[in-house]
Amino acid sequence: MIEKKDLDWGSLGFAYRPTDYSYVCNYKNGAWEEGGLTTDHSVTMSECAGILHYCQECFEGLKAYTTEDGRIVCFRPDLNADRMYTTAERLCMPPFPKDKFIEAVKQVVKANEAWVPPFGSGATLYIRPVMFATGIVIGVKPAEEYQFRILTTPVGPYYKGGAVPISICISQYDRAAPRGTGNIKAGLNYAMSLRANVEAHANGFAENLYLDSESRTYVEEAGGANILFVDKEGTLVVPISHTDSILPSITRRSLVTVATEMLGMKVDERYVKFSEVENGDFVEAGLCGTAAVISPVGKITYGDEVINISGMEQAGPVMTKLRNTLTDIQSGKIEGPEGWICEIDA
Ligand code: PLP
Ligand code: COI
Repeated sequence: MIEKKDLDWGSLGFAYRPTDYSYVCNYKNGAWEEGGLTTDHSVTMSECAGILHYCQECFEGLKAYTTEDGRIVCFRPDLNADRMYTTAERLCMPPFPKDKFIEAVKQVVKANEAWVPPFGSGATLYIRPVMFATGIVIGVKPAEEYQFRILTTPVGPYYKGGAVPISICISQYDRAAPRGTGNIKAGLNYAMSLRANVEAHANGFAENLYLDSESRTYVEEAGGANILFVDKEGTLVVPISHTDSILPSITRRSLVTVATEMLGMKVDERYVKFSEVENGDFVEAGLCGTAAVISPVGKITYGDEVINISGMEQAGPVMTKLRNTLTDIQSGKIEGPEGWICEIDA
């Protein structure tokens, strides 16, 4: 077994720290090249590259874990490959082949094995595939050349404290246009959320929750995570969108399976009106995503109105159970559904 880097794993935040290798592959003359590992973590391109002008870019996020017996595993990389494929198609980018995506993840994680945080440290190796137009464009059109990269970086919790309740607010801004790009993982969705993000943080909130931009009636999702609720009957309530503007979170889809098949819970995937939240219909809420894992939501603020969900003292029992079950599956402590864990060959 490879010796781990000497880091204070437990105190890592969600920040970039370059590891030894990245993966890089270029698209030229209508085809993806072979691709491979690099120690160069910089990118050089034309000032006229498509990414710089018309924002042709998309990305993914997944994690690698060290199991109790020292193996290195990833969680459902096939779903990241699928989503990046769909995202690329929507942005007129050449989709990166799915099998090549999984091979690239394995290769780069294997090469950075010493950076995969030890079992039980609370940290993980965050894997960030990213793809952007390097080809020259000046008129508005898709570029002809692209670069796909994967960087890795060891991280701790995305929201401070990890499993500690957070306080979030309803954004004044909209996240995604109806039938726009809210359901794909494009960098442009985050560029327009930065102002809302900075304002939320300045006002003491950990994150924004967005309502549907067509009617501002329904709950959609947070800036960097989907949202889940638990009603008074203990049903897991999962918001869906009339306008398909919620990102199909891999964590959320996995939790729906975990709740139904492993925990015997009732799950209701439905439209959720914000008025239900205001009425106090939900006893727990949580933000879920690769970076977020599940962060319990203690309260939600909308202008002057403060809605207490499960309070800021401690996480509710359902979110705690879901979080523990999910992280136990991801770190190989308990067995999840078949095919969820991808072994990185020793
Ligand atoms: N929603 C948004 C806007 C996100 O940025 C993310 C992060 O990836 C998610 C949801 C969660 O998706 P996943 O569980 O696939 O990481
Ligand atoms: C992830 O969870 O992987 C994301 O990409 C979310 C981002 C806000 C860090």
